[in-house]
Amino acid sequence: MSNAAEFQDRMLSLGLARVSEAAAIASATLVGRGDEKAADQAAVNAMREQLNMLDIAGVVVIGEGERDEAPMLYIGEEVGTGTGPGVDIALDPLEGTTLTAKDMPNALTVIAMGPRGSMLHAPDVYMDKLAVGPGYPEGVVSLDMSPAERVKALAAAKGCACEDITVCILERPRHEDMIAEVRSTGAAIRLITDGDVAGVMHCAESETTGIDMYMGSGGAPEGVLAAAALKCMGGQMFGRLLFRNDDERGRASKAGITDFDKIYTRDELVTQDVIFAATGVTDGSLLSGIKREVGYLTTETILMRSKTGSVRRMIYRNPVS
Ligand code: FBP
Repeated sequence: MSNAAEFQDRMLSLGLARVSEAAAIASATLVGRGDEKAADQAAVNAMREQLNMLDIAGVVVIGEGERDEAPMLYIGEEVGTGTGPGVDIALDPLEGTTLTAKDMPNALTVIAMGPRGSMLHAPDVYMDKLAVGPGYPEGVVSLDMSPAERVKALAAAKGCACEDITVCILERPRHEDMIAEVRSTGAAIRLITDGDVAGVMHCAESETTGIDMYMGSGGAPEGVLAAAALKCMGGQMFGRLLFRNDDERGRASKAGITDFDKIYTRDELVTQDVIFAATGVTDGSLLSGIKREVGYLTTETILMRSKTGSVRRMIYRNPVS
C-alpha cells in the first residue's frame, strides 16, 4: 500500500505534465513564425497560469532570470496555491526559442520539481557539460579528460571502436577545437544549433537517438534541468560553471556558490528525488512536436520520477475551438 505522501507525489507528477503541456500548446501557433519572443512569452504565461493551479508552496529556483530582468517566473517567485508541500521548481517554458521560431527539431517545454534545496541554484552563466547514458562504470569519462580521451574511454567501455561513437555538441565557434579533436578520433558528431537539455537527454536513450555522449558549454540553468532529467532516466552528468567576468562571479556568490572551480556530478546538481516533465514543441528524436489538425492539437509529454525511475510518455489530444 502506498502512503499519503507517495500518493500525493504521483498526483503532483500528473499536474506537472499538465503544466508542461499547457506551455507547449500555448506556443503551438507560433512554431515556424520567426518570432522567438512571442513564442517564449506565450509559453511563460501558460506555464505560470497552470503552475499556479497546483496545490504546492513552490519557489522558482531556475527560471526566466533575476527578478529585475524577468517579470514572470523569475528566480524566487512563489508559485502554486500555497497550500501544499514546499517545493523548489526549475523550469524553462521554451527550451529552444530559436528552434521554435524556425521550426527546427527538439524544442521542448521543461519543468522539474523537488523538495526545497534539491536543485543547485545555478546562476545564469555558462556551464561546461559532459553526459553519458546509463550502464557505464561511474566516472567512465570526466571533464578533466580531453575530448579525444573521453571518446576513447567511452568506446573502450562500450566495447566498440571510436568510429562507432556519436557525440552531440552545440554548434558554436567556441566549440571549434573540441569538434576538431573529437573528429580526429573518428567519432561522429551530431551538431545541434540549440537545445542542450534535449542534447543531454538523448544520451539516456542512445539506441533510439543514436547519441552516446554530450559535451560542451551551454547555459548553467539548462545544465541543472538536464541533470534532473538524467537523474530520472539514468546516466552520468558532470558540470563546471564557467565565468567570463566579475559580474558573473557575483551572480554565483549571490546564489550561495563559494567554490567556483567545482565539478558537480549529476547528484550534486540535483541532490534529492525530483519529478520531471517535458513536452515536445517541434518534432525531435525524443518527443514528437505539437501536431495541429482541424479541431485538435496533439502533444507528447515525457513524465518521469527519479524515485522510481518511471518514464511515461503521454499523448494528449486536445480539442480546440
Ligand atoms: P533559449 O531557448 O533561451 O534560446 O536557449 C537555448 C540554448 O541553446 C540552450 O539549450 C543552451 O544551453 C544555450 O542556449 C546555449 O547558449 P548560447 O546560445 O549562448 O551558446
